[in-house]
Amino acid sequence: MCGISAYIGKENNAAEIVFNMLSRLEYRGYDSAGIAYVKEGKQDKIFVVKDKGMVEDVKKQYTPEHSDLCIGHTRWATHGESSKINAHPHLDCKQEIAVVHNGIIENYVSLKEILEEKGHKFISATDSEVLSHLIEEFYNKDDVLNLEEAIRQAIALLRGSYGIAVISSKEEKIVAARLGSPIIIGIGKDEDEYFISSDTNALLPYTNSTIPLNDGEIAILTKNDYKIINKDALPVQKKIEKILHDLQSAEKGEYAHYMLKEIFEQPRVINETMRGRLRLEEGIAKLGGVRMKKEEIRNINRIVFIACGTSLHAGMLGKYLMEEIARIPTEVEYASEFKYKFPVIDKGTLVIAISQSGETADTIASLREAKERGANTLGIVNVVGSTIAREAEKGVYVYAGPEIGVASTKAFTAQITALYLLSMYFGRIRNTISGFALRELVEEFARIPGKVSKILDDADVIKDIADEFYNYGDFLYLGRGYNFPIALEGALKLKEISYIHAEGYPAGEMKHGPIAMIDENFPTMAILVKDNVYNKIMSNVEEIKARHGRFIAIITEGDEEVKKILKGDDKNKVISVPKTHPLFYPFLTVVPLQLFAYFCALKLGRNVDKPRNLAKSVTVE
Ligand code: AGP
Ligand code: GLU
Repeated sequence: MCGISAYIGKENNAAEIVFNMLSRLEYRGYDSAGIAYVKEGKQDKIFVVKDKGMVEDVKKQYTPEHSDLCIGHTRWATHGESSKINAHPHLDCKQEIAVVHNGIIENYVSLKEILEEKGHKFISATDSEVLSHLIEEFYNKDDVLNLEEAIRQAIALLRGSYGIAVISSKEEKIVAARLGSPIIIGIGKDEDEYFISSDTNALLPYTNSTIPLNDGEIAILTKNDYKIINKDALPVQKKIEKILHDLQSAEKGEYAHYMLKEIFEQPRVINETMRGRLRLEEGIAKLGGVRMKKEEIRNINRIVFIACGTSLHAGMLGKYLMEEIARIPTEVEYASEFKYKFPVIDKGTLVIAISQSGETADTIASLREAKERGANTLGIVNVVGSTIAREAEKGVYVYAGPEIGVASTKAFTAQITALYLLSMYFGRIRNTISGFALRELVEEFARIPGKVSKILDDADVIKDIADEFYNYGDFLYLGRGYNFPIALEGALKLKEISYIHAEGYPAGEMKHGPIAMIDENFPTMAILVKDNVYNKIMSNVEEIKARHGRFIAIITEGDEEVKKILKGDDKNKVISVPKTHPLFYPFLTVVPLQLFAYFCALKLGRNVDKPRNLAKSVTVE
């Protein structure tokens, strides 16, 4: 969901710095971009460069000028089409105030009416523009110039979500504020320059010292100082948080796309997430961050996963794990549904929010609902210091590093790694799994990164198959048991980066309707590995074959039995994955599906890292 960047400090190329920061945020959401700055020596005027299109296109309209104060925005439109006029920044009537905004102002219509009655002239169709005129209403009253005070009064009238950065041509400062949409302050190493961003990735080239704002807080940045106040204008003391990963880990390197790099990082990511938590010598899993007493863990009577998209699919796998290994009744809820369904929560309920970004508005809203209803809460999050990481009472960080590709891959694998560890940890505490059985699982778990690497070594096999299948307009993805969530995840990957329609289905359900779609133009991706439902899926594949449907089967290497159904025609394909304990196949079956989606999208000429209409982090409900 869009991006905010801002700079104030010793350099006089503030606009170039902000453009560079914006280009590092484009993966979050992008249909237009813009900056607003104050030129050295021309402090009475705000200069704006903005347009529809990518950052580099908009930057071509900018003539380099000296400036030490600039704000910028990449937009993912919610109100008003993607256009030059609707692009941010938005100005007030006197063109003295410029605002960039992430989020949705839910009461913008009523505010706009009031402001128009007071004579304000609006030029855009966005909700955000009410901010610049509302601040104008409270600014420069009785000749008192106090931008932060005007903003504090203005945001008190807002309903909805915002992350904003604001400048005025009359004061040498930048003011930022947040409610529901991330704002992070970056502090220059000599404390003589300050940055604002909606994401740490944009700060990495400049600083690793950050202060994430909490909801209701306002930051005032000048060239050599910063201050943070709350909604009552009282000062707030905040500790500086260091960004844990380095710039290198956020770069594409020799890969063609971030998504491909992140798919190939998965063996390392699984190892990083296991590190210190999978105790081979003890044959156990242990998670310090969970900070729950053994009694608390034994008293959990229900788990509810709340998440969206790929993270929801991780939660669906988590359900199987928690119920089989830890014997805890578990539900999985779409975060966008959970908050508004009057959820039944009691003190034995553990609500687990799963989120790569830690900023997904639906998941944040549901986490807050769960806390209000008295649930214990735990976050499984990738971005350190993100809202969900800070608001969940307990947490397990997944060390996937920055995930730039909009389609989530390594974060998913890291999330399920954490879920395997957590279910094994709970299972041991609740004595629902024997020490011997646990040791057997732990030993196989430790071999998984190497087995994923073997699949990545055969990526070309998957590319060749994608070259044969990329032109189909529809796909059915089938999986059973632990691999049903993987079928859903594989279908989502194909949809979101190649734009091909794909449906994930529990294989057993296929004969209750979807099989009607099967013919030679409607292929199936079937996860057919040697687990406890192998024979069942084999029948499903036979049913597809009997209706002349083409299929690609993900099989266990060395499985000769499955080759019987392939005899006689080469239009059906198999992708082999190494043998493992049935519990761990999801790690191995998701990787070919990620690669298949990637290679199909490539063949179709899609923008793999920035698919149309999507954003990396959806910070609006
Ligand atoms: C996954 O490929 C998508 N980018 C999307 O479904 C994503 O998983 C979803 O928006 C949740 O994001 P989060 O994990 O950051 O909360
Ligand atoms: N709601 C604002 C708009 O549509 C901001 C959207 C965003 O977060 O990019 O312009």
